Amino acid sequence: MVSTSVPDSVSPGFAGGEGPAGAAPEERPFEADVDAASPNRNLAPITASLDREGCLVVGGCRLDQLARTYGTPLYVLDEATLRATCRAYRQALEASYPGPSLAVYASKANSSLALTALVASEGLGLDAVSAGELLTALQGGMPPERMVLHGNNKSEEEIALALDHGVTVVVDNWQDLEILSRIAPGRQAPARLLVRFTPGIECHTHEYIRTGHLDSKFGFDPDQLEPVLRHLAGCSWACLDGLHAHIGSQIFELEPHRDLAAVMADALALARSLGHPCSDLNVGGGLGIRYVASDDPPAIQDWVRTVAEAVAEACRARHLSLPRLLCEPGRSLVATAGLTLYTLGSRKEIPGIRTYWSVDGGMSDNPRPITYQSSYTAVLVNQPLAPAAAACTVAGKHCESGDVLLQEIALPEPTTGDVLAVFATGAYNASMGSNYNRIPRPAAVLVLGGEAEVVQRREQPEELLRYDLLPPHLKAIP
Ligand code: LLP
Repeated sequence: MVSTSVPDSVSPGFAGGEGPAGAAPEERPFEADVDAASPNRNLAPITASLDREGCLVVGGCRLDQLARTYGTPLYVLDEATLRATCRAYRQALEASYPGPSLAVYASKANSSLALTALVASEGLGLDAVSAGELLTALQGGMPPERMVLHGNNKSEEEIALALDHGVTVVVDNWQDLEILSRIAPGRQAPARLLVRFTPGIECHTHEYIRTGHLDSKFGFDPDQLEPVLRHLAGCSWACLDGLHAHIGSQIFELEPHRDLAAVMADALALARSLGHPCSDLNVGGGLGIRYVASDDPPAIQDWVRTVAEAVAEACRARHLSLPRLLCEPGRSLVATAGLTLYTLGSRKEIPGIRTYWSVDGGMSDNPRPITYQSSYTAVLVNQPLAPAAAACTVAGKHCESGDVLLQEIALPEPTTGDVLAVFATGAYNASMGSNYNRIPRPAAVLVLGGEAEVVQRREQPEELLRYDLLPPHLKAIP
């Protein structure tokens, strides 16, 4: 096992070894001390194991065979891990919050029909931020009453689509209200709304994924909250269901989430004092995951307990009846269930500097390293625990020097054609992917009990031309 943070040896966190002395090597877990109750604390999906030949298996499927059957790059999603995470959120909310609650999947992390249907079947709701995510969720069978529409620049069409289906609109700014006041009156039912505000809470994460501080493009400034609430009190077409705030993403601290509860309870008291029913408090997402061995995120249960107790306590202190508690996990719900398979291609050794191995994907299927300098963990699927040889750098195939997926990681001596698995790619990889260099998007398979289902088919190069048009005056070949 190798990781960007443990570059020179097999990571101590992995099972390894040959089993009990003298015993025939048998199937065994890949990761030692797997936290099956809170998958965000592991590097690999909870079903990751090694077969008798020491090859990596996920969801009962050998990863080298998946690569052979479906090609690479390939996104692999483990259904057991996805369901375990959904249940962890739902059960933790039920156990630690005395009122009603709902976990709402932030589908920006990974939006597809299959993921929608899966999280819907686990009783979760869904947050969408565009017509595309809304349509995917509606077609995937998510009940509209469990959905919210976010966005700091929603179009009239997007808001109308939400209203047509009874999806709750999260009002982010005065423009949303202007659009709503034009298209919501006269409908059968009042528009169901949440108001999003910036709570003024700092947390430690990459500056691009911080949202709760004052200098954020999302939500109303705290000093705008009262004018907005007063304005909405006069809108008979609106029903203010509650309030929303989200402080950021990939957060390992619990304290900011505790602080958020008090800020939101103050806002709830204000809204109710102005006559709004405000039955919902939506505290956003943000719980981090383990990308490399040194990451140590809190368990889902601890995060939920912290949030739930803080909200209940803050409401009690202000003599407020308990709202329904909503949270919006994205990354922590889907990242660890996913991994990406690549095939190693060319090798370039620069003596005294570094050795590059290039793979058949890169920044178009995982833009996080080039965008946020994110680190990942990777193994060769046929010898995941073999001792490391020299460090190497895994580069993508795009025409961009920064297209590097893994910096200076230790792999056992690879050869061209070996399959590499990069872990924890289930969130913000496919959804942020692109066709840079006109590279088609990978396929995605969902694995369970030894079966793999294609849930997103591989894009074909010809399909990349489907929106190109050639004006007649350019058609004549000179
Ligand atoms: N709710 C709202 C309103 C959000 O803006 C987000 C994430 C979430 C929930 C889910 O947060 P999570 O549980 O995933 O932390 N592309 C970046 C992450 C951007 C997050 C944007 N908003 C990345 O790859 O790290």
